[in-house]
Amino acid sequence: MAETAGNGRTGTKGAQLRSYLLGLIEGELKPHEKLPTERDLAETFGVTRLTVRRALDQLGYEGRVYRTQGAGTFVSEPRIAKSVELTSFTQDMRARGLVPGSLDTMVEEIPAGAEIGARLALSPRDLVAHISRVRTADGEPMCIENTYVPAKLAPGLAARGITGSLYQMLTETYHLKIEKAEQSIHATVLDPPLAKLLGVPEFSPAFKVLRVAYDAKNQRIEYAESVYRADRYSYDFVIFRTS
Ligand code: GLP
Repeated sequence: MAETAGNGRTGTKGAQLRSYLLGLIEGELKPHEKLPTERDLAETFGVTRLTVRRALDQLGYEGRVYRTQGAGTFVSEPRIAKSVELTSFTQDMRARGLVPGSLDTMVEEIPAGAEIGARLALSPRDLVAHISRVRTADGEPMCIENTYVPAKLAPGLAARGITGSLYQMLTETYHLKIEKAEQSIHATVLDPPLAKLLGVPEFSPAFKVLRVAYDAKNQRIEYAESVYRADRYSYDFVIFRTS
């Protein structure tokens, strides 16, 4: 039985090897556990080490395994966790080599009201810290952000005010660590007041990003509405094919 057909496609043994490896990755082995060695796989399936390496490379491209020089091949974390990262504005800008900042920061403590209350699973009368900021990159306005944090989780936030990263402050001052978020992105245009704040022509296109963020205990830590200039901002993802 040919292990590699003349057209370069993987033959039957190669397919068996791949389905065996997928079985291990999805079944017996946990993330960061080691797969059998190339030599063992080659012997078990009666194929060359080159065929094994190709199968492992393919799984590597798909994000299912990772290889560490001299140590072997290991199961990756589940894909979703790797493909989309939960970051703050500060982290996003730093990753692009830009200096993050904020203008016109306003912080107040207000009742949540019906809409924000529903987003944060609070009653309308519960208090929230409302933070309104124009976020900048290298001093240039990029985004208008309105963030709401339950006051009982971050007492005194409104009085303390905020100059840098909210996420850093939540972690360092309030020991609230955001672990996951539900997020949706909508297309919109900037009405005249928002366009003025961002320094772009009226009715310029923008992205509206809505995020509800949670900690490891599934507590809702923030609800944020961020409106980004579409001419200066893009959403970049690594996405994986599942079949
Ligand atoms: C992004 C998110 C917001 C979050 C903000 C925190 O913009 N869309 O939901 O509030 O980051 O950013 P920072 O930690 O820089 O204040």
